[in-house]
Amino acid sequence: MIPRETIEEIRNKSDIVGVVSEYVALKKSGRSYVGLCPFHSEKGPSFTVSQEKQLFHCFGCGEGGNVFDFLMKIENISFVEAVAELGGRIGIRVEKSGIPGSLKNEKDKLYEVMLMAAKFFRKCLEDETGKIARDYLSSRGISPDTSKSFGLGFAPAAWDELFKHLISRGVSPAHIEQAGLTLPRENKDGYYDRFRNRLMFPIIEPRGRVIAFSGRALENVEPKYMNSPETPVYHKGETIFGLNLTKDAIKNEKSVVLVEGNVDLLSVYQAGVKNAAAPLGTALTISQCKLLARFTDTILLAYDSDTAGETAAERSAELLRSQNYKVKIIELSGAKDPDDFIRHNEAGAFKNAIDKSLPFLEFMIRRALSRHNLKEIEGRSLALRAAAEILSREKDDFIRKEYAKTVSVRLGVGPETVLAEIKRLGYYSRAGGKDLRRITEKPPSKVAEAEKKLIALSVQDNKALETVKKELKPDSFFNPDARAVIELLFSADTEQTDNLPHFMVENLTSGSAKNFLTRALLDESPEKSGQILEDCIQVIKAESVRNRIDVLKSELRKAEEQKEPQRAAELLVAIKNEIS
Ligand code: CTP
Ligand code: MN
Repeated sequence: MIPRETIEEIRNKSDIVGVVSEYVALKKSGRSYVGLCPFHSEKGPSFTVSQEKQLFHCFGCGEGGNVFDFLMKIENISFVEAVAELGGRIGIRVEKSGIPGSLKNEKDKLYEVMLMAAKFFRKCLEDETGKIARDYLSSRGISPDTSKSFGLGFAPAAWDELFKHLISRGVSPAHIEQAGLTLPRENKDGYYDRFRNRLMFPIIEPRGRVIAFSGRALENVEPKYMNSPETPVYHKGETIFGLNLTKDAIKNEKSVVLVEGNVDLLSVYQAGVKNAAAPLGTALTISQCKLLARFTDTILLAYDSDTAGETAAERSAELLRSQNYKVKIIELSGAKDPDDFIRHNEAGAFKNAIDKSLPFLEFMIRRALSRHNLKEIEGRSLALRAAAEILSREKDDFIRKEYAKTVSVRLGVGPETVLAEIKRLGYYSRAGGKDLRRITEKPPSKVAEAEKKLIALSVQDNKALETVKKELKPDSFFNPDARAVIELLFSADTEQTDNLPHFMVENLTSGSAKNFLTRALLDESPEKSGQILEDCIQVIKAESVRNRIDVLKSELRKAEEQKEPQRAAELLVAIKNEIS
């Protein structure tokens, strides 16, 4: 266990604004900093960081906590790892050895093994053995510079070169297998290398650690690409290839070009488009979307031109749009993928294609219209239906109406015809959908506000806390998160705790209670008077009384139904007492 004082020292000496800034562009706003939340996709900044309080909270998705929570969440690491990481940055060494069998040590070991393997593959590519792979690269137009930037390597055409190399460096066979680099021999002892005679693409996470490999066959053998299996450090659905190299360009350009293939990414990068990346495989996952949200909200899709590519692009685009990303489609006329396009066009052609990329809706509408013969009435009718279907899924009124206008021009009908068709289809697609539920959702009640304010006050002011302790019980609180916070707060030894807000954030076991607390602490809604504490207490008490009366009344009804006059009379008295 890391000593309490060490954790506190590291937290005190780390600045949450600086740490968050490495991932999120923050702007000063009032007493805090705000930016786009890295944990969900959003249009306006609801992610708030307070330097003064050293806490963050997203008013959009509800995530909140201290600097350790932030790092744990964004890097997907444990508390101990986060403390060690931040300690390392400010020169405080955290002894990790005392943590028996911790995942940290296991993961560290795997990162180390993966790095050794990447170096080994790289050296093989540069040796005589690697000539065949170097020739392959040059046949595909990949320059030595590009190869070096991506850290490409070569897995030799032998059974256990990598295995022997790693063993000679003191790595255990179990770790090599756990890293996904070897497979156990069938019917025999020992292992053989997973990757043999392949061009090796190291998959590197944004912070620069090698977590997997993708190996391309040099000849026409199956599979064309051999990939690392899932390991404790590699989760395919959460990874995007290339971000380690391209994340800064993506931030600067405020957009990312997504391509399907590893080689596509190399070609695009080499053609001077540095804000690019490749999800591994075809259809994007939610985790990958969230990863991109750290860098940009504008995604340009440059997928393959075949049907599989188009389907993947469409599916990815729908997913991205549902997460509030802006999506554009890059059309590669006459080429099967970006690599092919770049090789068969003059320099700069790909950048032109990016400039000409179409907003997703425009792309979809064009495609839908192109499938019908607009010279015939029947064709126009089908085209109208197809375009309206696409637009009926658009939530933004303005965008939907403007596109309806362009469709009406293209079909030679009045805009009201298109709008009517959209309405007709939209009525069905929305019925029972999310939009209905949102309308019926209750606005935040007076009680919820009071509980939140009261907690913010008592966590930050001992006098307020004493008053609350006297006036209320944890039971008086309605929100279960508020109750959890109050329970811990009432049991805290305030004499011994010099930073009560941080003590609370660190010791609340429930994540949602912690999020509730950071929300309360970072909420800057203006407060009017010193009367506020009493007001909140009154609101909560009143609600508490009302709730008790409701319970008593329902008991009373039961007693009457069951003909228990004695009990009914008692209950009546109890109700009267509550009211007075
Ligand atoms: N892929 C894979 N396994 C396969 C085929 C493909 O993991 N058997 C992944 C690879 O990441 C590959 C991407 O899907 O880069 C796109 O596949 P494809 O379009 O077939 O690859 P290209 O990049 O076009 O392959 P190349 O240009 O090297 O022929
Ligand atoms: Mn290709």
